[in-house]
Amino acid sequence: MDRNLALEFVRVTEAAALGAAKWMGLGNDKAADQAAVDYMRKAFSAITFDGTVVIGEGERDEAPMLYIGEKIGKGEGPKLDIAIDPLEGTTLTAQGRANAISVVAAAPRGHFLNAPDTYMKKIAVGPGAAGAIDINAPVKDNVRAVAKKLCRDVDKITVVILDRPRHADIIREVREAGARICLIQDGDVAAAVATAFPRDSEIDLLLGIGGAPEGVLAAAALQCLGGDMQGQLKPRNDEEVQRAHQMGVKNIDKVFTINELARGDDIMFAATGVTNGSFLKGVRLTADGAMTHSVVMRSKTGTIRYIEAHHKFAKKPVY
Ligand code: FBP
Repeated sequence: MDRNLALEFVRVTEAAALGAAKWMGLGNDKAADQAAVDYMRKAFSAITFDGTVVIGEGERDEAPMLYIGEKIGKGEGPKLDIAIDPLEGTTLTAQGRANAISVVAAAPRGHFLNAPDTYMKKIAVGPGAAGAIDINAPVKDNVRAVAKKLCRDVDKITVVILDRPRHADIIREVREAGARICLIQDGDVAAAVATAFPRDSEIDLLLGIGGAPEGVLAAAALQCLGGDMQGQLKPRNDEEVQRAHQMGVKNIDKVFTINELARGDDIMFAATGVTNGSFLKGVRLTADGAMTHSVVMRSKTGTIRYIEAHHKFAKKPVY
C-alpha cells in the first residue's frame, strides 16, 4: 500500500471528526453520527483508490451511505478493503463525554474479517503482553498471565471493561483475581488501543463483549502497534448467525486470532479525536476554524504519527 495513502486517510477521519464535533453535547446521537458519515464519505471521494467498505455503517438497506459493499474513492488506483467507524462513541459525543473518535483502517483486499454487525467477545493487550492471552481461559488466568508478562503484580494490572450488565461475571472474576478495573460507558476501540499506551492510559487488558465491527478495527490498530487480540462472534439470534455464514464465517464458535481479524503485513489505521480522550485530544473549535488531533499508523513499518491540524474554515467552505 502506498504509504502516502495513510496521510490521505487522516484527512478522512479529520473530516468526520469535524462534522461530528459540531454536535458535541447537543444530545442528538443520530445527527452527530450522520454528520460524521456525510463528511467522511465526501472526504473519501477525493482520494485516488478503488475501495470497498467491508466494515461499515451496516447493510445497504439500513445505511444509505458507507454501507458494507459500497464502493468508495475515485475508483482507480490500489484496490483496498476499508473498515470504518465514522463516529465510534455516538452517545459519548452527544453527551459531551470523553473518548469519542473517528476511525478508518485499510488493507489489501481480503485482509479484514468480514464481520457482520453483531457482537464479539474480545480480549486485547498491548505489545508488552502479546502472546499471553487466551480467550478460552478463565479470567484469572489471563489476568495472571498478563501480569507475569508485564513483570508486575496482579494488583498493578488494570482491566478495561464496557459497563454492561452482561459483564457482571467478568467484573467479579477480575476483582477476585485482584486486578483493578476501569469501567467505560462506550468506545471499546479506543479502549483496546489504550492497552498499547499504558503510560497514558494505565490500561493493560481489555475484556468483554462489544461490537464485532469495532473488534476488527481494534485488531487493525493493534496490528500496527504490535499488540495482540482474539475475538469470538456472539450473535444475538439465528438471523445474525445466518448473516455470519453468508459473510463467510463457517464455524460461528471459532476464535479468531488477531491475524484472522486483520491480516497484519500491510494495514493502515487512522483515528481523529472527536472528544478529549486518553490518547487523542478532541476537536477544538477556534475563532476561525478548528484544531484536530489524529494518529496514523502502518503495520509494515510500525511508525506511529500524531498529527495536529489547524483548519481554517474560510478556506475550506465544506466545513
Ligand atoms: P457506537 O458509537 O457505534 O454506538 O458504538 C459504541 C460502542 O460502545 C462500541 O465501542 C462498542 O463496541 C459497542 O458500542 C457496544 O455495544 P452496546 O452498547 O450494544 O453494548
